[in-house]
Amino acid sequence: MGGYFINKSKAYNDNLREILPCGYHYNFRMSERKIPVHFTKGQGSRLWDIDGNEYLDLYCKSGAMILGHCNEAFNRALKEQIDKVLGVDLCDIDNEACKLLSKYIPSAEMIRFGLSGTEMIQNALRIARAYTNKNRFLRFEGHFHGNADNVLGGSTENYDNPIPIDKGDGFSSTEGRAVRVLEDQSYLIPWNNIVILDKVIEHHGDEIAAIILEPICINGGSIYPAKGYLEHVREICDENDIVLIFDEVITGIRIGLGGAQGILNVLPDLTIMGKCISGGGIPISALMGRRKIMELYDNGRVIHAGTFNGYPLGLAAICETIKILEKDGGQSYKQMNHYAEQLHLSLIKEANNAGLDMIVQGPRSCASYHCRDSAVNSSSEIDSILHAKNTIIRQQLAQYGIIIAPLSRMYTNIGLNEKDVEFFNERIPHALRDAKILIDRVINKIRNQNKSLI
Ligand SMILES: Cc1ncc(COP(=O)(O)O)c(C=O)c1O
Repeated sequence: MGGYFINKSKAYNDNLREILPCGYHYNFRMSERKIPVHFTKGQGSRLWDIDGNEYLDLYCKSGAMILGHCNEAFNRALKEQIDKVLGVDLCDIDNEACKLLSKYIPSAEMIRFGLSGTEMIQNALRIARAYTNKNRFLRFEGHFHGNADNVLGGSTENYDNPIPIDKGDGFSSTEGRAVRVLEDQSYLIPWNNIVILDKVIEHHGDEIAAIILEPICINGGSIYPAKGYLEHVREICDENDIVLIFDEVITGIRIGLGGAQGILNVLPDLTIMGKCISGGGIPISALMGRRKIMELYDNGRVIHAGTFNGYPLGLAAICETIKILEKDGGQSYKQMNHYAEQLHLSLIKEANNAGLDMIVQGPRSCASYHCRDSAVNSSSEIDSILHAKNTIIRQQLAQYGIIIAPLSRMYTNIGLNEKDVEFFNERIPHALRDAKILIDRVINKIRNQNKSLI
């Protein structure tokens, strides 16, 4: 079989670029070419573009679409809510949405809602500062916390005093940042390194209001915490009056109704979730946490503003998502993970057949593949050559109808089934064969010229 033609999408996108910068609704400073496919229909795990091509969606809108496209029960619940009431501050399902989240998320004693992960992360940092009366926060390389100046990218070389700066070379580098916002607000250290963590806390613990992290670092390559690492971070926070913040914007209810904290058995003080808590494509996010911290909203010491906070359609989306996912003791998770495993095993087998190294790591529903023969333990291991290989594979898979998220993350949804596995198996040998030819060519060029050419 040959690759897809996307002539209509390309023409549409060329036109769009005149008015929408880069013909896309978001951008990073990535060496990856955007794939300008315009979709017109979705059902379960499948999508159709305006050229009539059919795709298996392992992108799931950056992980948000855990219910798959056009989930019948989800769409019905939203339509019912639209016909009831939309534009009000308080409605008759506020309590139900809060109770459903707190039933499953172990640390969710109190909850506030917003629209995006980005905004609730900033709210978490603000309330942590107010609670501790300290200013800085500590974050980790490879962890992503949204589109705000103070968390976007940066790098550091001096781990004794790990103040991040934006050197203009990372994919989250940006011009236009407020002056010194990175340098003055955070420290940035490698993930899974206890020695560096201890040193920073020893010297700077009394300035640090919060430690923020993805409990499983999906954005850095789907990397689990090392054994005992999160427990150690928890202890450090307790001993140094530091608020522990879990950014579960991806893992939150994607890997289970309790999020990562439900399986790792370490509880944060504050948690942010977004994306999947409304798993069918409606934006809503939540900041959840300890009563003693969240109560700062009750007595007016800390502000949390937002016109659409807790809007009824978003709350209806949360309620229906949880009701769907909790059915039959979470059977849909089991089924999704079963099929995801089959996809991962096929990918490894067919890559090897094509002469490519391949590993798949992380939770089944948000795993990453890496074109190498051993696991990635730190995002710094993803150098320009590995990134180039992973990117070529992603682009070739798209040519054959399999869509994967940037940075080689494969998000699944509960619509995944046997037929999707067949669709995948049919296409990957062709895609990986083409990828191998391109990889050999591009890697030679990179090696020769010592720079990324993709
Ligand atoms: C771990 C993590 N935190 C925060 C965010 C930002 O969330 P949003 O895009 O809803 O602002 C993202 C987005 O991808 C994310 O992956």
